[in-house]
Amino acid sequence: MTEATPLLEVTDLVKHYAVRGGVLRRRVGTVHAVDGVSFTVGVGETLGMVGESGCGKSTVARAILRLVEPTSGSIQLNGLDITHLGKADLREHRRSMQIIFQDPFASLNPRMTAGDIVGEPLSVHGLA
Ligand SMILES: Nc1ncnc2c1ncn2[C@@H]1O[C@H](COP(=O)(O)OP(=O)(O)OP(=O)(O)O)[C@@H](O)[C@H]1O
Ligand SMILES: [Mg+2]
Repeated sequence: MTEATPLLEVTDLVKHYAVRGGVLRRRVGTVHAVDGVSFTVGVGETLGMVGESGCGKSTVARAILRLVEPTSGSIQLNGLDITHLGKADLREHRRSMQIIFQDPFASLNPRMTAGDIVGEPLSVHGLA
């Protein structure tokens, strides 16, 4: 690999979930789902993450895509810090990142035609 900008650079990523309880839904505790994760992925590289159930793999993925808001840390995509991008700016970058779910029966809506499934993201991003 050359000294090019990494495709993805995650630095000190932290995600804590509040645990709420009682009738007033007060914060009664904190789940430290992800606590200080850093890694880089270069162009053409693949990164695998392995760990026991509940260790935070999915939370890392969701936080990178900003599907959950990171508690702290930073995410750089192609050299651009996307950690604090607003919704409109983020939409542009969502085109270059996505989760691919393993189970096609859960991922593809059986009530939609194949054409609609392929067409929806093109329409959302105003591409066609
Ligand atoms: N929305 C949430 N609110 C509170 N706690 C959560 C939430 N989502 C995940 N967690 C907790 O965060 C921790 C990490 O969960 P996560 O789903 O990231 O684990 P995982 O490594 O993907 O597990 P698996 O291998 O089972 O998919 C777990 O303790 C989980 O219970
Ligand atoms: Mg998971």
